[in-house]
Amino acid sequence: MFKKILGMFSSDLAIDLGTANTLVLIKGRGICINEPSVVAIQYDKHGQQRILAVGQEAKDMVGKTPGNIKAIRPMKDGVIADFEITEMMIRYFIEKAHKRKGFFSPRIIICVPYGLTQVERRAVKDSAENAGARYVYLIEEPMAAAIGAGIPVKEPNGNLVVDIGGGTTEIGVISLGGLVLSKSIRVAGDNLDQAIVDYIKRNFNLLIGDRVAEELKITIGTAIPLEEDISTSVRGRDQVEGSLVSIEVTSEHIRSAMKDSLEEVAQALQDVLEKTPPELAGDIVENGIVLTGGGALIRGLDKYLSDIVNLPVYIAEDPLLAVAKGTGIALDELDLLQQTAYED
Ligand SMILES: Nc1ncnc2c1ncn2[C@@H]1O[C@H](COP(=O)(O)OP(=O)(O)OP(=O)(O)O)[C@@H](O)[C@H]1O
Ligand SMILES: [Mg+2]
Repeated sequence: MFKKILGMFSSDLAIDLGTANTLVLIKGRGICINEPSVVAIQYDKHGQQRILAVGQEAKDMVGKTPGNIKAIRPMKDGVIADFEITEMMIRYFIEKAHKRKGFFSPRIIICVPYGLTQVERRAVKDSAENAGARYVYLIEEPMAAAIGAGIPVKEPNGNLVVDIGGGTTEIGVISLGGLVLSKSIRVAGDNLDQAIVDYIKRNFNLLIGDRVAEELKITIGTAIPLEEDISTSVRGRDQVEGSLVSIEVTSEHIRSAMKDSLEEVAQALQDVLEKTPPELAGDIVENGIVLTGGGALIRGLDKYLSDIVNLPVYIAEDPLLAVAKGTGIALDELDLLQQTAYED
């Protein structure tokens, strides 16, 4: 009864807890927070840690911090690498959403990377409960991505969604409101950035940081050869001389750097298609494949995948927001969506 009364005054929240970006959506009001999943921690001389910044401010500190400050991505690689800091981050974002709208004791639905262990899921729920949530529900990322991409998930019709985030690529076949088949690989945006760092090191003897690699991926990266190569200059430290130099990098270089990782994504997609029951496979031939997540924005990725699997591939509208939007829709239908939102 008390909970019911509380419910009348609180605005529920949907959170996309991504390894690269965290988005928070307030029921009926849309996305209110969209920030990198980064926490900057300062250590005092007793080794005690204190949060210095969270989100964009913390990301801007990556690679630029003095010794006693560390910018941490607590959810690297699609798993919770640091429980304590993940909890701090969840708390921070919930409190920030709270402050803006002044409500209390909300129901919260959190989209977590697919394949988290029971212990990790429990940790996420506990963090949200400690931050004041009345109920916490979890939803799996491929399902949230599909809902957010506008796929009619409840129909007896097979659909395939590929969400390429920062830490993981998650592939899900969905029908009748459930995940029929899914696969998650730890090859996604971060891994592409790392491949670019390695490539530049190997071919140009130049050391660049993750942020610069990400920038190259976004500005000139491509999955397929371009009619006209584009290029940009990059500064970094020469490994041999130790001096600061500038080199010219082309989209063709970035394509070579990303090639192996993209092949792994294509292979995972093919594996899922091979395991898809024939009736649903027939639907997917009709409906095509939908891409979500930041990786969907890689130039030419839709054509690249389409050529390999021989099926139409579409990019969802606002792919970076699809999971948050889908989680928000699940929040609206919390009472109906027992199949997809589950309580541990
Ligand atoms: N235009 C773009 N081209 C290529 N990659 C991009 C682009 N925009 C963003 N990205 C990449 O998308 C990734 C972030 O995507 P997203 O926010 O969907 O991940 P996430 O949800 O935090 O991660 P995960 O779902 O793995 O937990 C980053 O690696 C980022 O570099
Ligand atoms: Mg995601």
